[in-house]
Amino acid sequence: MKIKIAPSILSADRKKLQEDVKEIEPYADLIHVDIMDGKFVPPTTFKPAEIKKIKTKIAKDVHLMVEHPIKDGFIDAYAEAGAHIITLHEECKDDIKSAFDLIRSKGIKVGISINPPTPLDRIKKYLDEVDMVLIMSVNPGYAGQKFIPEVLDKIREIRRLKPKLDIEIDGGINADTIKLAADAGANVFVAGSAIFDKKDRKKAVFALRDAIKK
Ligand code: DX5
Ligand code: ZN
Repeated sequence: MKIKIAPSILSADRKKLQEDVKEIEPYADLIHVDIMDGKFVPPTTFKPAEIKKIKTKIAKDVHLMVEHPIKDGFIDAYAEAGAHIITLHEECKDDIKSAFDLIRSKGIKVGISINPPTPLDRIKKYLDEVDMVLIMSVNPGYAGQKFIPEVLDKIREIRRLKPKLDIEIDGGINADTIKLAADAGANVFVAGSAIFDKKDRKKAVFALRDAIKK
């Protein structure tokens, strides 16, 4: 599986997002965009216009931590903002299949995510329909939290069922935990604080890539 590094701009400087994205773009595979509604999780994050303004050669990987991706217009808004893939949570309150259909109708790839307490069984029925599964390795809402190793079993199981599916892991990824996740079968790695909180961000991305190979 191709290894993909997805820096999360939640940890970037909101006042100079374009500059921060340009800095890591040559070394990254995706730009991870965390969208929060203040209901599914307490904080709110980027407005569609902020994301639309970001010019980048790599794909915008939009992670919707929202209660109503359809009803509250999040899918429409971030599709318009240039999302390449939109991932929604199984725990959201809109109909999952309708959300997939809406995303696909815009020519955008589809992902499904679950929080650490949610069992894998809840998304098994979607595995044939999605381009990516996103396993949360922290409870969503904030960057810089501690990795929850119990979620690795879910990754092992999805990899067993779907040898070729993109499996993304998000939360608490650093040079130690990335190796655990890769060995379990993940191939797409979100990292916020482990990249943007570092002075040398290029070095930080390479440190993550190197750690997988060890
Ligand atoms: C957490 C977000 C993550 C977050 C990761 O709710 O979904 O994408 O930005 O940040 P780190 O890598 O610092 O845990
Ligand atoms: Zn995320």
